[in-house]
Amino acid sequence: MNHRPIGIFDSGVGGTSIWRELQKLLPSEDTIYLADSKNAPYGKKSRSEIMALSQKNVDWLLEQDCKMIIVACNTATTNAIDFLRRNYDVPFIGIEPAIKPAALHSTTGKVGVLATSGTLGSQLFLTTSKTHADDIQILEQVGEGLVTLIEEGKVDTPEMRSVLQKYLEPMLKGGIDQLVLGCTHYPYLIPLLTEMLPAEVKIVDCGEAVARQAFKVLNEKGLLNERGRQGKYSFYSNADTSVLQKFLSDIKVAYQIDHKDF
Ligand code: DGL
Repeated sequence: MNHRPIGIFDSGVGGTSIWRELQKLLPSEDTIYLADSKNAPYGKKSRSEIMALSQKNVDWLLEQDCKMIIVACNTATTNAIDFLRRNYDVPFIGIEPAIKPAALHSTTGKVGVLATSGTLGSQLFLTTSKTHADDIQILEQVGEGLVTLIEEGKVDTPEMRSVLQKYLEPMLKGGIDQLVLGCTHYPYLIPLLTEMLPAEVKIVDCGEAVARQAFKVLNEKGLLNERGRQGKYSFYSNADTSVLQKFLSDIKVAYQIDHKDF
């Protein structure tokens, strides 16, 4: 049994989509969430910048005595998780575009991936695509500007709709039947995407699988907290906390949001 918190970080509010899945599956665990919104978006930064930002976030979370770190950001995972695992002893759980299940379920043999340029250009994305979808056509689309719009709280706006329309069109023309959400900010677009996509195109998101993996690793390492207790949830942003506040406003359990310079 282990009472220490689980640390989670993202370039901003997107990783709260992972936190939701984690809280559902492991309500007894304490969590500390870092939104590095001051440095968002990560998607256009160089690999070394993403590694340095990830390191800074991990150092801060480890100062808070976290027992596990969830890299709730595809861009940080695909560019920095190997580096983090090499440099720290704590277990890391990451997230990368769910190409494998999408390829397995595709009947057209064409899968769309919407992600940041940092994720799509990473070596890990290339390797995963080759390993799990070599016989599938992957139609990549950089979601330029989406993270910024989401961070600004402009989720269901005419501006968002027109950007999404522009990004979906080539993938739909290309015949995709699976759309992989390769960024943890994008699950907040699911209601809009469901409206905009034809019914035969399935949205693939692996937030729940990340939570299951966290559970598995904690269990294997004997790091789970006591069952039946209520977890404590702290959220920190190094920018305007009202954005986090807005994205968490529907959460029913008690939590605390603060500004912190990290
Ligand atoms: N949530 C991050 C991801 O999953 C967003 C990246 C960004 O800040 O551009 O990739």
